[in-house]
Amino acid sequence: MKLTILGGGGFRVPLVYGALLGDRAEGRVTQVALHDVDAQRLGAVARVLTEQAAGQPDAPEVAVTTDLDEALRGADFVFSAIRVGGLAGRAADERVALAEGVLGQETVGAGGIAYGLRTVPTAVHIARRVAALAPDAWVINFTNPAGLVTEAMSRVLGDRVVGICDSPVGLGRRVARVLGADPDRVWIDYVGLNHLGWLRGLRVDGRDELPRLLADPAALGAIEEGRLFGADWLRSLGAVPNEYLHYYYFNRETVRAYQEAERTRGSYLLEQQAAFYAEAGKPGTPALAAWRGTLAEREATYMAANREAAGVGERDEDDLASGGYEKVALALMRAVARDERATLILNVRNQGTLSALDADAVIEVPCLVDANGAHPAAVDPLPYHAVGLVTSVKAVEREVLAAAQSGSRASAVKAFALHPLVDSVNVARRLLDGYRAVHPGLAYLTAP
Ligand code: G6P
Ligand code: MN
Repeated sequence: MKLTILGGGGFRVPLVYGALLGDRAEGRVTQVALHDVDAQRLGAVARVLTEQAAGQPDAPEVAVTTDLDEALRGADFVFSAIRVGGLAGRAADERVALAEGVLGQETVGAGGIAYGLRTVPTAVHIARRVAALAPDAWVINFTNPAGLVTEAMSRVLGDRVVGICDSPVGLGRRVARVLGADPDRVWIDYVGLNHLGWLRGLRVDGRDELPRLLADPAALGAIEEGRLFGADWLRSLGAVPNEYLHYYYFNRETVRAYQEAERTRGSYLLEQQAAFYAEAGKPGTPALAAWRGTLAEREATYMAANREAAGVGERDEDDLASGGYEKVALALMRAVARDERATLILNVRNQGTLSALDADAVIEVPCLVDANGAHPAAVDPLPYHAVGLVTSVKAVEREVLAAAQSGSRASAVKAFALHPLVDSVNVARRLLDGYRAVHPGLAYLTAP
């Protein structure tokens, strides 16, 4: 079985390869094609993978290429994990927004819109090449903003593209752990859009255990979301929001913390990753050790400015283990390839699941996965406050998709202006001008 990884020179690729190495079952991946536009990054990551595979006689074979079509031919699965504009682009997404006094973040608010406007045209191109060259392949989209990008690709590939994120799984596992439940045996009632969802219940043998957690401030204080949002607010909501909702519920504080931070996440990562790739590319240096050290540092500093804004100190040891998005991807791939049924929280087309959204809107929801793909489970309706955010942000995503398709600047301005975290149409206009000035990837926005 052949797996193609687009963005194959990306930093998280060794996580995926590590998960593949742990898969001993019949029908596992035997060939991995890494594609990237940057040959130097590909070389460095390939060195890490070689060290990972050392001593494993039947490790999946790895091939690297900068030719997209070559990478896609014969693929059974395609992981798409690209970063259009690189980390320099991410840093610019943050900077331009923060200078306007609004949130600059990888996926949320103005920064996420800029990133989406740059990424959607490339994602659609990839989807078309997959449709032409590997029409039976399943595409697993990791590329952020993951919900929006998955929806763009689904217009070409239908339900053969599924988006993934590790944050809902991570949240579900943290809540299960603190309740003393087995994370693999619970039903997690979670729904929304990517990075905009709520855990409304956690059922163990049919019984909802979430009320027990919400009533216990000490237990809430033991998980990241409890510390970020505070027990009172979680009790008011009657749910545990995805950590990315911190940018909405504490917008003023997070924007200020981001503005005051010594450097943004994107600029920190830009420097950190450049050092890693330089090191790992040097012959004779232990690439795997360099990668592990860099990963540990990256995980420990994840959302540091949010914790700063909430005044909650260091990241807890138990929260460092993320949901493991490579594990989600592998479980999804196995469920589809071998008809091993699984329930996973995924980004798929709504198909009537949430009545406030149309059938084609990509949402994040528990799905039953089998050889026929991922099928959204029935869930309770969202409360009005959540419907409000979800429909507003979906409207923004639709404007991004319209702008990417038509090249219309008016649609791009509308995307910024309709976002709940952008507070003026004038700000939206300046944001678009600011982003167009720094991102060559937005040059396609030539229509009025
Ligand atoms: C979480 C999110 C991912 C995101 C990552 C960002 O896992 O769910 O969507 O890519 O964090 O982490 P970073 O280290 O790039 O800030
Ligand atoms: Mn994510």
